[in-house]
Amino acid sequence: METRKPWWILVGGRQRLGRILAERWAPERNLVLTSSRPWDGETAWLEPLARVTEVRTLCWNAEDPALVSRMGADLEGLAAEGITFENALISSSTFPMAPLGSWTPESLEATWRMNLSFPFLVAQAMAPRMANGGCLQFLLDTAIHRPWLKRLPYSAAKTGLAALIPGLAQVLAPRVRVVGHAIGVVMPDEGSDPTFLASRSLLKRLGEPGDLDRAIRYAAESPYVTGEIMTLDGGRRWV
Ligand SMILES: NC(=O)c1ccc[n+]([C@@H]2O[C@H](COP(=O)([O-])OP(=O)(O)OC[C@H]3O[C@@H](n4cnc5c(N)ncnc54)[C@H](OP(=O)(O)O)[C@@H]3O)[C@@H](O)[C@H]2O)c1
Repeated sequence: METRKPWWILVGGRQRLGRILAERWAPERNLVLTSSRPWDGETAWLEPLARVTEVRTLCWNAEDPALVSRMGADLEGLAAEGITFENALISSSTFPMAPLGSWTPESLEATWRMNLSFPFLVAQAMAPRMANGGCLQFLLDTAIHRPWLKRLPYSAAKTGLAALIPGLAQVLAPRVRVVGHAIGVVMPDEGSDPTFLASRSLLKRLGEPGDLDRAIRYAAESPYVTGEIMTLDGGRRWV
């Protein structure tokens, strides 16, 4: 008898790490991918994905005043088709850099909204749509242990998100599990020096998408793990 593939949702699944993970997961999972922008015309990489699995695309933008009702309607539509999620990964973020002295209330608000409010609202919308024993996972940053000094508000927002992991795990137990991943540099920003960044870790290398993929699969497949933050940073926080 054919078993149905589980559904995984990747919030921020269009670019960079999100897209790489979607491509790795496609053979074994059906996927819902979100982006802040409409998906029209994005066929070059989605078509091959859709040949190996079922893929749905949604538009969830942190700046959208109707975000909460839009997420609710989208998830209700999927639930009407019998879709619940074994795993949800919330990856979306911004990584703004500015020296102390130049932050404004607006730029701070935007940083909190994208890196803290948005993941929280997504978690709130996703929780009732998770399958029993499902895992809600958040991408954090090793900055929760040692902040990026030119990106203090980003570091603080991720630290706030880290504080939510045990809290959400308690609120959602025993039905849904919650896990965070505090990752080191995997895909350096344009203009940064990968050799220098690699030297600032015990293992003297950058992370690879496979490192993250393994940890996410481990959490998804470990029914006794919840409320946990795994640090995958090659020991950056000890240097
Ligand atoms: N890259 C690394 O080495 C690294 C290191 C440490 C931690 N992390 C964490 O890992 C995650 C993924 O990192 P990344 O570097 O691949 O991605 P990223 O560039 O930080 O952001 C992921 C996605 O967020 C989405 N986004 C931007 N503005 C948005 C908005 N207004 N509403 C909704 N979504 C929005 C964008 O996708 P759309 O334009 O399609 O919406 C973007 O591709 C992030 O949470 C990051 O903090 C990454």
